[in-house]
Amino acid sequence: MPRTPKTIAVNGFAIFSPVHLSPGLWRHPDDRSLEFDTLRYWTDVARTLEAGRFDSIFIADGIGIHDVYAGNADAALSTAAQIPKLDPMLLVSAMAAVTEHLGLGITASVSYEPPFTLARRFSTLDHLTRGRIAWNIVTGYSAAASRAVGRADIMAHDPRYDLADEFLDAVYALWEGSWDDGAVIADRDRGVFADPSRIRKVHHQGQHFKVDAIHLVHPSPQRTPFLFQAGASHRGKDFAARHAEAVFLGEHSKTRTAANVAETRARAQAFGRNANDIRFFGLITVIVGETRAEAEAKYRDYQRYTDPKGALALLSGWTGIDLSRYSLDDPFPTIKKDNAVTSMIDTFAASERAWTIRDIITHNFIGGRGPVVIGSPAEVADELQSWIAETDLDGFNLSYAITPGGYRDFADLVVPELQRRGVYKTDYAPGTLREKTFGAGHARLPDTHPAARFRFDAAASRAQALASV
Ligand SMILES: Cc1cc2nc3c(=O)[nH]c(=O)nc-3n(C[C@H](O)[C@H](O)[C@H](O)COP(=O)(O)O)c2cc1C
Repeated sequence: MPRTPKTIAVNGFAIFSPVHLSPGLWRHPDDRSLEFDTLRYWTDVARTLEAGRFDSIFIADGIGIHDVYAGNADAALSTAAQIPKLDPMLLVSAMAAVTEHLGLGITASVSYEPPFTLARRFSTLDHLTRGRIAWNIVTGYSAAASRAVGRADIMAHDPRYDLADEFLDAVYALWEGSWDDGAVIADRDRGVFADPSRIRKVHHQGQHFKVDAIHLVHPSPQRTPFLFQAGASHRGKDFAARHAEAVFLGEHSKTRTAANVAETRARAQAFGRNANDIRFFGLITVIVGETRAEAEAKYRDYQRYTDPKGALALLSGWTGIDLSRYSLDDPFPTIKKDNAVTSMIDTFAASERAWTIRDIITHNFIGGRGPVVIGSPAEVADELQSWIAETDLDGFNLSYAITPGGYRDFADLVVPELQRRGVYKTDYAPGTLREKTFGAGHARLPDTHPAARFRFDAAASRAQALASV
């Protein structure tokens, strides 16, 4: 029996900066990136995404400046290559206020603050968004970010993930285990807000973190936010297989994407999880017109605004390799660094073609390292469906050349075509982001998820209370 085609999920990929993955395009007359520091721009983006039935907005972040190129931040600063970069946690309430269903995904690192304060902010946002918040868990790959918070250098690659595992144990304990479901009574007549016997202190004594506190926030609709992850190294996949509900991949090859998806699903099963409890999203950029000729003309127009210096600043920052030391026609130096997105280096090293630096920055001019699909609505839909069929991806993080035009073109031209083909939702499912993604009855993480073992256990809590008498 033929498999029913999967519904394609789509997130709008964004950053709180004038440049995300298309350096130079902020100069295009139809681009609104320079309004990035206004609420009006972001509420317009949120409305555009919800009108197009996007699943979420997914906001990249990191506190490091791209200062690897030529050993300083000049190239990044002069081209706005992800600097300025503002705090996306402060954007989300405004976008939640003008939408009803759109998921709101925020990247935040486990490396620069204690679990307690981060857990509090996510719980706050989960309440204010009525359960639409997602956390893209990153460990931070930037040496500049480490120096910014007073450390001499960045922690080595694999130990960063060990620290992340411990960080998650601590936040799971706060989100899942500090307050019991019925702890909040809010009884006006009796004047009782909460039942102290159903609230307990979290005691976490780990190698990196200590927590000895009651979570400051009462249980939110999802408790643990919907968990995204984008590590793609061996250790990164292990971490994703353990914790992630959605994984974001940045490959341009279908073969590597398919291998990644299969490997992470298999590892999730080895951890006792269901292989389908993880959704996979691939980075993609779509340039669409009513006709192929119109789409190609748009692409040629966008190319006139690309900025090689900005692309070099970004690429050096991501790979940790100072590309100013090479000629543009040198082969891409596949040097592995701890302060790097190592999977990015693997992507180019493992490619069947030999990439020069010029090839890579040219490829990265528009939308970053993922595929760029250019064509009519039918051609784009064919290509998206072929990615889904050949890789087992569940959907895409849609990057743009210009914003919000890239999202709007997708919503206006590609979404109706996908809906006609029966592979794109015509309306949102009710409930929290987790329920919209996994279906009714999935408000909380499944019992097979590592967070489940931190759930409030009334008996253990009573024992703890007695022991402290
Ligand atoms: C597609 C993709 C998107 C990413 N987005 C971010 C981000 O927004 N912020 C960040 O600090 N790291 C980001 N990363 C970096 C990863 O979280 C991770 O730190 C990095 O890839 C190194 O881990 P790995 O070697 O397991 O890939 C991203 C990585 C990929 C592959």
